[in-house]
Parts: sequence; C-alpha cells; structure tokens
Amino acid sequence: MVCRVKSAIFPVAGLGTRFLPVTKSIPKEMISLVDRPLIQHAVEEALAAGIERIVFVTAPGKVTLEAHFQASPELENTLAARGNGAALEVLRATTLPRGAVACVSQPRPLGLGHAVLCARELAGDGPVAVLLPDDVIEAATPCIGQMVEAHAECGGTVLATMRLPRTQISSYGVIDPSDTPAGAEDGRLVAVRGLVEKPAAQDAPSDLAVIGRYILAPSIFGHLARQRPGAGGEIQLTDAIASAAAGGEPVFGFCFEGRRFDCGSRVGFVEATVAFAMQRPEMRDRLGTFLRHEMARLETTVLAAE
Ligand code: UTP
Repeated sequence: MVCRVKSAIFPVAGLGTRFLPVTKSIPKEMISLVDRPLIQHAVEEALAAGIERIVFVTAPGKVTLEAHFQASPELENTLAARGNGAALEVLRATTLPRGAVACVSQPRPLGLGHAVLCARELAGDGPVAVLLPDDVIEAATPCIGQMVEAHAECGGTVLATMRLPRTQISSYGVIDPSDTPAGAEDGRLVAVRGLVEKPAAQDAPSDLAVIGRYILAPSIFGHLARQRPGAGGEIQLTDAIASAAAGGEPVFGFCFEGRRFDCGSRVGFVEATVAFAMQRPEMRDRLGTFLRHEMARLETTVLAAE
C-alpha cells in the first residue's frame, strides 16, 4: 500500500536576487499577491491536500516567515476590542497549530537540492511534498492535492509538469519521458527515465518542464547527500531525482490541471497580482476600468510616438 503524504517542505532560503532591492530586507515569499504573501498561498494549498506537517527551510535571519504563521495575541485583542471581526477572522486564519510547523536553517544558499536535504531530519520517514512558493497555481483542486491523489495510485516520485515552448524550456528541469505508458490518472502521468536541469533548447529531451511541486520518495535524501554541484554550481534537486530514475526507481511527471504563475519573475508576479485582484468582487470593476484606460492610454502614446 502507498504511504500517505503527511509532510511538506517549503525551501525558502534563496537570495531572491530578481526581486532586489525589496528582498534585501523582506524574504521573497513574504511579498504579497494583493494581501496574502506567496508563502500563505503555498501553505494553504498544502493544508487543503491533507498535509499535517510544514517544514520551512529558511535562510539565517528570515524570522518574519515563521512569525506570519504564529498567533499574535496583542493584535487580536486590539481588533477584538475595536469590534473589527472581519480583520480578526483574516488574522486568525493565518495561525497554524503549535507543532504543525518546524523550521530549519540552510546556512548558505547552495541550491534547491541542498535546501531540501537540510529538511531531512524534520521531514519524517514517508514520502514528502515539496512546494516552491514562487510558483503560484490557481486550480479547482489545489495542485499538490491532485498530486497526492495521483501518488496514492502510482507511488514513487511525482513531479508537477507543464508543456512549455522550446524558447522557455532552458530555465527549467526537463523530463526525458520513457516509452512505457505510466498507467492510470487519465493520461496525466508520464513515466520518466531521465531529467535534465536547464538544458539548451536544442538539447531538451521534451517540452515537459518540471515546476515547483514535487512528491518525493524517502530515498531522495540519500541521492541528495551523494550529489555534487550541478548547473550553476548548486546542488540540484533535479539531478538527485535523475539519479533515482537512473537507478530504476519509479518517477512520474504529472500534468496538473490549473493555471501557473511564475511569481519568481517580476512580470509573472505582476500577472498573478492582476489575476488575483480581478477575482475580488470589490476590486474587479474599478481595476477593470483602470486596465482598459491604461491600455488605451498606452496605445495612444505608442501611436503618437510612431
Ligand atoms: P530560485 O531559483 O527562484 O532562486 O529558487 P531564488 O534565490 O529564490 O531567486 P533568484 O533566482 O535569486 O531571484 C527556487 C526556490 O528554491 C529556494 C528558493 O527560496 C525558492 O523557493 N532555494 C533556492 C533555497 O531554499 N535555497 C537555495 O540555495 C536556493
């Protein structure tokens, strides 16, 4: 029987250089889409999938992240005294039960694989989910929940994948699909025989890119411990998963249903902000009007310049 996924690792110890200068003092994961930080989107996704234990891998000094999920009695009392029930409800929803959250520090940013390895002692014995908060996925069933369901059928390691144009593929880990059919899950599972981190477009083994949701078999930690630095001089999670696949362990790509925003890039972050804001009934009309005016203004300016 396949073991249920109970723990999730959130590697959030990166430097966030693409978001400097804001990331000088604010962790990237605390930047907010409208009013909810990226990390909250990811944690809520994991909780909705039945994950019970949250492990943050943080850089030394990133205390705001833990604080976000702790109770804040003073603020709660103030809001209660003012009768601001709506704000109180929003605030309380961010508090996670004691014992549900654990933190470990990655002393230096040696790569995503190294960050995951840092969580080894806290992750428990079973399969573990990994969520990168800068991939925000909008879906009827949360992406990691879809993957937990798929994993219950196929076991092994399951990687969220999406098809991308060759022009974009070199920024991702790319799947080398096996000829063997992967089985159930309505054709959304692809058996993986290999993986390549950030291949040149012409060398990419497919157009199936791995994005920031994983369910990893416990053997991953052994593979990570043996990894040497790969692309960019970092210990790559992709390389460790490739070692598992090369050793005959079952690895699957999973084509999830949903819309993914690349919030690790500035333009992707702005796209996500607009998309999430447009879903708020109290913002939709005004923002829609603003966007239409802004487009018209831009076109007039561009035309005038030509
Ligand atoms: P990125 O590749 O997006 O790197 O990391 P980054 O440092 O966050 O951002 P840029 O590229 O400098 O702008 C993907 C995920 O892996 C984590 C990051 O925090 C992010 O969630 N990560 C990366 C670590 O936890 N440790 C690392 O050493 C590297």
